[in-house]
Amino acid sequence: MMDLPIWDMRRGDYDDNRSSPYGGGLRSAILSAVLEFNYLKAPIVFLFLIMGPALLVGIVPSVISTFGNLMFHTATLAGTRLFVALGLFAVLAAAALWLGRPLLTIAFDNFRHLHYSLVFPIFVAVREILRSLIEKFAGRSTTPQQLARRRRICTVLAALLFAGGGLILALTVEISTGLKLRNVERIQMLPTIKATLGNAAVIVGLSTIFESLYWLWRELTMTGPVLDWVPAASHAALSTVRIAHLSDLHLVGERYGCRMESGTRGPRGNQSFANALRRLSAIHAQTPLDHILVTGDVTDAGTRAEWAEFIDILQTYPALRDRFSFVPGNHDISIVDRTNPARLDLPWSAGQALRKLRFILALDEVQGNRARIFDRASGTLGPSLSNYLREDNRMELLRSLAERGAMRGRWEITKVWDAIFPLVEPPPSEDGCGVILLDSNAPSHFALTNAIGVVNPSQMKVLKSVLRNSPRSAWIILLHHQVVEYPVASISSLRDRIGLALVNAPDVLAAIAPHAARVMVLHGHRHRDWTGNCGDVLLCSAPSVSLGSDDYLGSFHLHELARGSDSIQLTATQNVRVQDASMMEMPDAVDIVVRHHEPAA
Ligand SMILES: [Fe+2]
Ligand SMILES: [Fe+2]
Repeated sequence: MMDLPIWDMRRGDYDDNRSSPYGGGLRSAILSAVLEFNYLKAPIVFLFLIMGPALLVGIVPSVISTFGNLMFHTATLAGTRLFVALGLFAVLAAAALWLGRPLLTIAFDNFRHLHYSLVFPIFVAVREILRSLIEKFAGRSTTPQQLARRRRICTVLAALLFAGGGLILALTVEISTGLKLRNVERIQMLPTIKATLGNAAVIVGLSTIFESLYWLWRELTMTGPVLDWVPAASHAALSTVRIAHLSDLHLVGERYGCRMESGTRGPRGNQSFANALRRLSAIHAQTPLDHILVTGDVTDAGTRAEWAEFIDILQTYPALRDRFSFVPGNHDISIVDRTNPARLDLPWSAGQALRKLRFILALDEVQGNRARIFDRASGTLGPSLSNYLREDNRMELLRSLAERGAMRGRWEITKVWDAIFPLVEPPPSEDGCGVILLDSNAPSHFALTNAIGVVNPSQMKVLKSVLRNSPRSAWIILLHHQVVEYPVASISSLRDRIGLALVNAPDVLAAIAPHAARVMVLHGHRHRDWTGNCGDVLLCSAPSVSLGSDDYLGSFHLHELARGSDSIQLTATQNVRVQDASMMEMPDAVDIVVRHHEPAA
């Protein structure tokens, strides 16, 4: 009787399906989320992330108006003539503006935050719903050109709808500039808050109109549809660059650990990554690789055990580690709790700070001496990441975060995170090929928005500056989120198209487009194998090393690039499949199948 085991615990059990949309079913996941949701924490998070920024944005018109009145009144009371009073007012206003810069900066940052967390995602949702509807009716036989045209029409429609919505909001809510801020005793808290929120709504409404017109303009000026990659006639190459592109390793911290997405239906443990490295090592021994690039979701939930696994597996291949570069994915920094999707993060929580710290520690260990910080003050490349992390008392502060979750350490990690991205690995020579590493994760504090992406304006500025100031260099740009929707009509993945979107993707594309001939963009996130172009920009989407659509057999890309005098060209690409032993239940018999990527004719 004992010969027949009741259950093999190494296969995982129902507990491993708590976060998987495929494992436990959507209804059970929603019910569990409602029960596990922290109804005390939620209003606190809402207050800090939505109400706080809205109040700060809404109070600015009143502060400016009150202060302006006060200045003008003082100047005219002094018995001066009108033009002298106006001059004095201008000087005082300029001084006040200069002194009040921190308030304006905070208000502007909060305004931006509102746009990234509310306005942009809603716009993307409207656009993608329209696109899905039109694609559903058009059918799957549509050509990429027709698809691009229809998608463009949907963006225009979404922008017009949004501009209309913004206009209605701005017209229906009354703006108040007085609020009687001059007389503190007469300030009534509730009416003031109500008026301030009304102001914020008007500002968001008006800015939405401008944003929508801007998106409209971006869409209309964007050139070329999204097409599958076709090998072009090769030019004379000065050199060849060989890269491996891996993505979405989703490493787990336990030998038999399941992944959040696939639950018990997916692979267990980290055999896929080990296999991929073994295969890469053989490839590298035969024909050396220049770079091994990983576009995020290195870990499944950014835990310490997962990062330790990554470092341990990688350190057995020093030659590969020296060429290894990676960017953060949403799973590395935005998963609050892998066993409880309903859990919220407070914005200042130790959890998020620690996930960022772990990522930086891994970066420091693997590519700290190669990756450089961009010095925003001088507009040039600054120190290496390793040197930067050891400057001043930064190391002590980061240690205090790791040891005791110290508040000063949490504050420091936020500053470090903002300062280091995009990291830059400069080319070996001026006409060589370098790597730019972007962080494309939108700030997120709970499961629903964890996968949304944005490249913030500070990184956009650096990206443009690096591309502009290195006219002879070629660049591989790494980010986690996809820049364009794939050129296939799709009705089933609406959730992915909204929930996984890079909300300012057209801006990223527009920043890269002028330098397209010498740039290649690599991303992951959607776990899809695709190589193509948008206009002249070459884009490569790597599948997941661990999670594939066909029985979770992951794979990675091998690319060969020809470096011309002022261009870089993809000349050959392969998809290398990694057969996962744990899934196949053959712990020792591991094999890897190599197949050539057949580009569309
Ligand atoms: Fe992923
Ligand atoms: Fe992802």
